[in-house]
Amino acid sequence: MSAAVRGTRDFYPEEMRIRNWLFEHFHAAARSHGFEEYDSPVLESEELYTRKAGEEITGQLYNFEDKGGRRVALRPEMTPSLARMVMAKSGTLPTPIKWYSIPQCWRYERTQRGRGREHYQWNVDIWGMQGVEADAELLSILVHFFRAVGLKSDDLVIRVSNRKVLEEVLGELGIEGENFFKTCIVIDKMDKLPPEAITQQLADLGHSDDSIARIRQVLEIKDLDALGIELGSNSQAVKELQDLFSLCESYEIANWLSFEASVVRGLAYYTGAVFEAYDRNSELRAICGGGRYDRLLSTFGGKNLPATGFGFGDMVIMELLSAKGLIPHLPSGNEDIVIPLDKTLRPAAMSIASRLRTSGRSVDLVLDDKRMKWAFRHASRTGAQRLVMVMPEEWQSGKVRIKNLETGEESDFDVDSL
Ligand code: HAM
Repeated sequence: MSAAVRGTRDFYPEEMRIRNWLFEHFHAAARSHGFEEYDSPVLESEELYTRKAGEEITGQLYNFEDKGGRRVALRPEMTPSLARMVMAKSGTLPTPIKWYSIPQCWRYERTQRGRGREHYQWNVDIWGMQGVEADAELLSILVHFFRAVGLKSDDLVIRVSNRKVLEEVLGELGIEGENFFKTCIVIDKMDKLPPEAITQQLADLGHSDDSIARIRQVLEIKDLDALGIELGSNSQAVKELQDLFSLCESYEIANWLSFEASVVRGLAYYTGAVFEAYDRNSELRAICGGGRYDRLLSTFGGKNLPATGFGFGDMVIMELLSAKGLIPHLPSGNEDIVIPLDKTLRPAAMSIASRLRTSGRSVDLVLDDKRMKWAFRHASRTGAQRLVMVMPEEWQSGKVRIKNLETGEESDFDVDSL
């Protein structure tokens, strides 16, 4: 028993410091936009995830029967839990609801670079707003985060489209409802599967050769004007996309975005704007993804409430930050190391440590017999600011010796002044 379960991670303190640094940026970006944090249990009823559109996520469920015979699952994503929470208070929560969370999610995936069987997924969602203003605000949060961690628009791109593009194209061909969602899920696999496999899966859904050709033709469009010509002047998809891009100009984030009709997302519930961020070299999997899902509550038997949001995993972003040299060196965060010169001074060192802690400093007290030399090495390894030495003569006269490790200065201080 020497390793963590395949696809799961231990976080040793130095990794935990980096994780906390990343999460602090998640918190800060959401809070800077007025969002409040929420949470829910990692264990949910299995039925929350029994959707039949052929999504990958439903085949990757960590599900089992508990000791009471209930079918339960570890959440693979946060959105259904959030929907459950919103539905439980339906009508009583003031809208718009602007909430965020950083849940651990579980998916039985093939483990590979940037994909594990558990990951932490920053989720940011807005409920109760129909307009693209809410979608634009989410994109602003994303860019705020990217800038804060030192990434630039040359490092990554947020690819944006709208499910209504495909909805309109398929509508012309008489395809809607369940078959529409299933088609989106097949199209989402276009980058991952060979073209023949995609054609076969589309044919299996009942699409004719002509309709497959039409779908492929539209999905290649990467220019909004060209999309306008293709879908016509009354297209709601084109209007929403134009409005969204124009709002992003006002946020001054348009250079981080690109319109790509091929973005559809692999989850069934999306209904409007959809987006995914990728590194510009396309070496990594999606950094994050999200979109509008206005009709999720009715699938749980509730009354629909418009919603939009994104999920942002902790794994791919760390790959990108590491490739760009943007992961900071983080010291342990202890400010003082207190060491007694010998055993007899241990009670004195404890009393000094207590005083310093009460005054608000973080203190690493040396609890066993260690030499001064060790304390200096330990201080430089952990990045402490001061070494507080409790020595016999000084202690007798009510003083301790403090070495400032940043400046190298050393002097004696009255214990009462600490
Ligand atoms: P998703 O695209 O399935 O969307 O996941 C969102 C992000 O979570 C991915 O872009 C990736 O960063 C991360 N992620 C997903 N699976 C894994 C994995 N196995 N290992 C590492 N990272 C992973 C959703 O889950 C939607 N519920 C997001 C959403 C929120 N849409 C609206 N609100």
